[in-house]
Amino acid sequence: MTEVPLFASSLAPYHDRLAEALDRVARSGRYILGPEVDAFEEEFARYLGVRHCVGVANGTDALMIALRAVGVGPGDEVVMPSFTFYATAEAALAIGARPVFCDIDARTFCVTPETVRAALTPRTRAIVPVHLFGNVAPVPDLRELGMPVVEDAAQAAGAELRCSKAGALGDAATFSFFPSKNLPCLVDDGAIVTDDDAIGELARMLRFHGSKDKVTFTHVGYNSRLDELQAAALRVLLPELDGWIERRRQAAATYERLGLGGHVALPEPTPGARHAYHLYVVRSNRELPVGRGYYRTPAHRQPAITADAELPGTEEAARTNFALPMGTELTEEQLGRVVERVSGST
Ligand SMILES: Cc1ncc(COP(=O)(O)O)c(C=O)c1O
Repeated sequence: MTEVPLFASSLAPYHDRLAEALDRVARSGRYILGPEVDAFEEEFARYLGVRHCVGVANGTDALMIALRAVGVGPGDEVVMPSFTFYATAEAALAIGARPVFCDIDARTFCVTPETVRAALTPRTRAIVPVHLFGNVAPVPDLRELGMPVVEDAAQAAGAELRCSKAGALGDAATFSFFPSKNLPCLVDDGAIVTDDDAIGELARMLRFHGSKDKVTFTHVGYNSRLDELQAAALRVLLPELDGWIERRRQAAATYERLGLGGHVALPEPTPGARHAYHLYVVRSNRELPVGRGYYRTPAHRQPAITADAELPGTEEAARTNFALPMGTELTEEQLGRVVERVSGST
C-alpha cells in the first residue's frame, strides 16, 4: 500500500493556466517590476485587507526588509519564538539585530502575551510572532505591549483571527511563496504587507537598492524582487487560496471525526483563530510511525546561534510534535489510513 504523502497538494489542475500566464509574460519582454507585479501586489493587498504589498525574492528577505522598515537597526533586540524555522532568527541577525527568544504555548505552537512580555527589555525594538503551521499568534494582544509587531506569516496565508486575515493584524507582515507554502509560486519568492504608508514606502525602496526613483540611492538596500513570471503565476493561484484552505480544514475535521484525538493531542487553534493547516501537527510522547517532527533543534540551540534561554514550552513542542499528512488532495480513505497507523502504534 502506498504511503500517504506528507504534503498532499498538487498544482496539476492549474498547469495549463500557469503555462499560459508564463507564456504571456515571456512574450511580453517585461520581466522585472512590471504590470504583473503591480497587479499581484494590488490583488494580494486587497485579499488581505491592507493598503500595501511589496513583492520580494523570498520570505527571509521579506523579514529583513520588514524589520528595517519598522525601524529595527544594528544592536536592537527583536523578541521572537525559538520554535520556528531558523530563517526567522537569521533575518534579525542578518541586519545586525539580536533575536531574543521567548517561549511558546506548546498547545498552539505560538507565542502568548505573557511569554513575549517576559522577554521585553529597554532595548526591544520589535516583536515577531510566527503564525506557525498555519495557526495565528494573538497579535491584537501583542500590539498592546507597545512595540512594532511584524507577523511572520510565511506559513499562514489564508488563516484568520477574529475575522481579519493573518498578515493584516500587525504593523507589517511577511509571506513566503516557496512551492510547498499555502500560496505557492514556482520558485522562491515572498512579500511584505502593511497598512502603514511609511513602512510600505521604505520596504519598496529597500527591495530596490534603497532607491525610490532608481536614480538617487538614499539607503543601503537589496536587490530583492518578485519577478513578472512568478507574479503572473501567483495571480492564477491567489483566487484558489480560500478554496484550498477550506479543503485543508475539511481534512483536519475528518481526522477529528475518525478519532485521531483518542491517540494524540490534536492541533489547538489560538482562541478566535481559523487555522490554515499549512501543516497538521499533533503532539505525542511516543514515536509515531507516520509523519515528521519539525524543529527538533529549535533556533536558540542551532550552532549559528546557541543562545542561553530557558524555554520549557519550546522544548516540549520540539520533542513531541509530529506533522501528519495534510494538503488539498487527501481522500477520506487516505486520512483513515493515517489514523489507523497512528492508533495501531499507541
Ligand atoms: C516561519 C518561516 N519564516 C520564514 C521563512 C522563510 O521563507 P523563505 O524560505 O521564502 O525565505 C519560512 C520558510 O520556510 C518559514 O517557514
